[in-house]
Amino acid sequence: MVNRSVLNNGIAQFYDISSGIWEEVWGEHMHHGYWEKGEDNKDRRTAQIDLIEKLLEWADVKQPTAILDAGCGIGGSSLYLAQRYGATVEGITLSPVQCARAQARAQSAGLSSTVGFQVCDALDMPFADEQFDLVWSLESGEHMSDKAEFLRQCFRVLKPGGKLIFVTWCCRDGQLDERDKRWLEAIYRIYYLPYILSIPSYEALLAEQGFEKVSSVDWSKQVSRFWSLVIDSALDPTVLWRVLLQGPTVIKGALAMQLMRRSYARGLIKFGVLQAQKPGVL
Ligand SMILES: C[S@@+](CC[C@H](N)C(=O)[O-])C[C@H]1O[C@@H](n2cnc3c(N)ncnc32)[C@H](O)[C@@H]1O
Repeated sequence: MVNRSVLNNGIAQFYDISSGIWEEVWGEHMHHGYWEKGEDNKDRRTAQIDLIEKLLEWADVKQPTAILDAGCGIGGSSLYLAQRYGATVEGITLSPVQCARAQARAQSAGLSSTVGFQVCDALDMPFADEQFDLVWSLESGEHMSDKAEFLRQCFRVLKPGGKLIFVTWCCRDGQLDERDKRWLEAIYRIYYLPYILSIPSYEALLAEQGFEKVSSVDWSKQVSRFWSLVIDSALDPTVLWRVLLQGPTVIKGALAMQLMRRSYARGLIKFGVLQAQKPGVL
């Protein structure tokens, strides 16, 4: 069993150290991009925005007014959703560096009165019950030390009829062999993940927390191209040099990109996209 505070400190440090270089080189979104068949020429940044749009379309999101971005990075999605819907957004992250940067970005965008950020653990959210009509969690669930508690918290802060969009790194369903487990252990160590689950396991966990209308889709094929593009750009000598200057945490993170690329190729890692609704009517 992972020690939550040790894990959270590791996650905070990882993002404190790596978020600056990520933003400089790859931009404000710290998530995969989305490519349909035949869209090989689509650039990475457009693909990252497309992922957000595809999620909103797939989950049939109407007009949210109060959004929680659980695991907000430097506020890429938070600001995008605030602008798209004119909604208020609260973003939470474990990283003080990310939080400060997200606040500065909200300020520059003229959105600091409607978009707020704070450092807090999503397993211990400081929000009132039934505060949000949309909870958005994009590639943060894999870090959570207790997945059931995280989903319980999402359920608690949602208004009746509110929606959760939960996108997370998953492992393939079924028995994992020793080699699979070793690969996963390496990914866990480098990216500060306690464990991940399969898509069907997450569906079951959502239903156990009281969610209804649970559905999921595997977008591994649509997103896996992301890692080759990030690896290619990291091999640019100026980027490589900057990565090296950041020290071991960032260097290991960069090397593990190959591991992610190959894990998708052998079907071990799955890009799980889930949605669920809190019973009731908005
Ligand atoms: C890969 S980044 C994704 C950022 C953002 N969702 C995006 O798409 O740009 C993962 C984020 O999850 C946050 N996170 C991880 N565990 C968390 C926890 N227990 N509570 C709050 N945030 C957490 C990290 O601090 C980081 O901001």
